[in-house]
Amino acid sequence: MEALITLLPGDGIGPDVTACARQVLDVIAEQHGHNFEYREELIGGAAIDAHGDPLPPATQESCAAADAVLLGAVGGPKWSDPNAKIRPEQGLLKLRSVLGVYANIRPVKIYNELAGTSPLKPEVLQGVDMLVIRELTGGIYFGKKTRTDTSASDLCEYTVGEVERIVRFAAMLAAGRRGKLCSVDKANVLETSRLWRDVTDRLIADEFPSIELETLLVDAAAMHLLSRPSDFDVIVTENMFGDILTDEASMLAGSLGMLPSASLGDSKAGLYEPIHGSAPDIAGKDIANPCATIASAALLLRHSLGLESEASAVEAAIAGAIAGGARTADIVAAGESHISTTDMTAEIISCLS
Ligand code: IPM
Ligand code: MG
Repeated sequence: MEALITLLPGDGIGPDVTACARQVLDVIAEQHGHNFEYREELIGGAAIDAHGDPLPPATQESCAAADAVLLGAVGGPKWSDPNAKIRPEQGLLKLRSVLGVYANIRPVKIYNELAGTSPLKPEVLQGVDMLVIRELTGGIYFGKKTRTDTSASDLCEYTVGEVERIVRFAAMLAAGRRGKLCSVDKANVLETSRLWRDVTDRLIADEFPSIELETLLVDAAAMHLLSRPSDFDVIVTENMFGDILTDEASMLAGSLGMLPSASLGDSKAGLYEPIHGSAPDIAGKDIANPCATIASAALLLRHSLGLESEASAVEAAIAGAIAGGARTADIVAAGESHISTTDMTAEIISCLS
């Protein structure tokens, strides 16, 4: 098949890891007779430096025209002055918004061989396999912001339609898995959460009567994620809770460097990115973990290009490299040695055949 992919390396380790994912995609294209064409564009701090704009029009146009977008990471100390009016993160948020990718899928899967790198006991991690569905284009991230010398405010708003579409999206995924959906809110305090809960209860009862729905307050969910992580199948939650809970959930997998994400809207075109940040301290040193971005490329193959067997091949290759002992610095257990970003990618590619 022919596909047009926009690459947005971004900042920090973003360029390091997107180059690895591209290499993997190239091998897949060659092995399976596909033709992937890439356009590379600027976003985040790199785009601020070049154009004074974290999401320049050329980047927006390229992303809108592509079959899929693969992004590295944005941000870094160079652009983090708290008083700055223009910040790298604004580019990413605007991109999510203009692409309309309201559904962010964050799978949390454990590689048994990495159980020793998680701070949790191996027996607690047994059988962990969940999808966190984070609402990505609403809530406090996108509400009106104000700031005076003595106060500041961020408005959190959700409409019934926004809650319905994300809960329906999550429920459909749950129906194809273990049939369990956990909705996370803060309905004992927040009005938006009370709306969220009402809409969720009604929608699941009306449209998905066979789904087993559990509702948790976000503070309790933070605890249950660590005490009984294998009980969760699909979790659905609002934008900020999803941001926080998925960083927490990454510790189940041992490292933020392992977790991919896919952001989808009503069209097939999606935005794919690792959930980790730009890690500026290790940028350009060839030591970053490329697994999350390569796994994001697998999600791209699956969700935007409909190439399920190619996607599974990439996921199996990551698992194969891990099983064969390949480790970047963030996933070594005591006494193990680690390899570079380049070598980790080569190990994954060597498992692709
Ligand atoms: C993420 C990141 C972003 C977010 C930042 C970089 C704006 O933390 O994708 O989880 O908060 O959504
Ligand atoms: Mg985050």
